[in-house]
Amino acid sequence: MKFLITGGTGLIGKSIVQLLIEKNHHINVLSRKRGEDTKQVRYYQWSPKNQTIDFTCIDDVDVIINLAGENIFGLWTKSKKKKILESRVKSLQLLKKLIKNRPNNVKQIISASAIGIFPNSQEIIFDENSTQKGNTFLANVVKEWEREIESLKAFKINVTTVRIGMVFCELGGIIKVLRLISKSRFLSFIGNGDQKISWIHLDDLSELFYKISQKNYNGLIHAVNNNPTTMLDLITNLTYKYKLKVKLFIPSLILKSFFRLLCLDDFYEDIANSNKNVVSKRINKVHPDLKYTSLKDL
Ligand SMILES: NC(=O)c1ccc[n+]([C@@H]2O[C@H](COP(=O)([O-])OP(=O)(O)OC[C@H]3O[C@@H](n4cnc5c(N)ncnc54)[C@H](OP(=O)(O)O)[C@@H]3O)[C@@H](O)[C@H]2O)c1
Repeated sequence: MKFLITGGTGLIGKSIVQLLIEKNHHINVLSRKRGEDTKQVRYYQWSPKNQTIDFTCIDDVDVIINLAGENIFGLWTKSKKKKILESRVKSLQLLKKLIKNRPNNVKQIISASAIGIFPNSQEIIFDENSTQKGNTFLANVVKEWEREIESLKAFKINVTTVRIGMVFCELGGIIKVLRLISKSRFLSFIGNGDQKISWIHLDDLSELFYKISQKNYNGLIHAVNNNPTTMLDLITNLTYKYKLKVKLFIPSLILKSFFRLLCLDDFYEDIANSNKNVVSKRINKVHPDLKYTSLKDL
């Protein structure tokens, strides 16, 4: 099979590309940068911002995987927030132009989305049938992102939306961020630390994307391992595993006021104090044998 993958140079993308190589597939990576071609991987350039693309990237492609988007970590300035939203919406708009204007054999498009669409809640368990949506910056970004994904159905191909939970892996993602924070001696939990974190390991996530393509799975699926942890358990586990010394407790009111002073209320709700108990009723049908189902497996 031939895959076209956007965001193939990022954390999740690199892992999926590696898995596809091992499974003997061919991959076209659509990137804003130049890359070095290999026997199985070819790089094509695009610019979602300027809406330019090398149209030949779709030739002979069976499945498109869309992962492109400005990284959400960093200081949420006005311009960063604009990039977070526009990079996702414009990437999909450019993919639509590509599918519309270049004859192709694409049968399926699998796009990343995020569980950030849900509101924070200590009580509610969200699954694929839940209709509640948050109203924070990130929730609104994901709503627009998913609207663009939905509009791909007009092409009469299978469209799969993968709402990804927090991705854990040894060397990247949130664990890398937490290890960096710990170096500045501020690794901490907020309030009583019982905020729910719904997560999936990078290896399981890559395998899930692969199985979705092989089973031609259609529709919405949550990429979480159905065993959410809490902020306290995660920090406790990391401090033990990586021998990190610092474990502070920050009263939530103090941190909330701090973020409010910096006009970063949304960042506090969406990232620092995120609290979402998200499960999947569908993952078992597609990928029943996840390798990482508890923090002990990390
Ligand atoms: N990691 C997580 O915990 C997590 C959780 C939920 C959802 N997701 C979503 O899954 C997708 C992949 O995540 P990731 O962790 O692999 O992200 P990542 O490491 O930041 O990679 C994202 C890729 O998107 C492209 N990109 C970055 N900024 C862009 C911009 N302004 N305009 C267009 N393209 C841009 C880059 O590719 P080029 O430089 O090659 O163009 C980059 O390699 C993202 O959409 C993310 O929101 C991730």
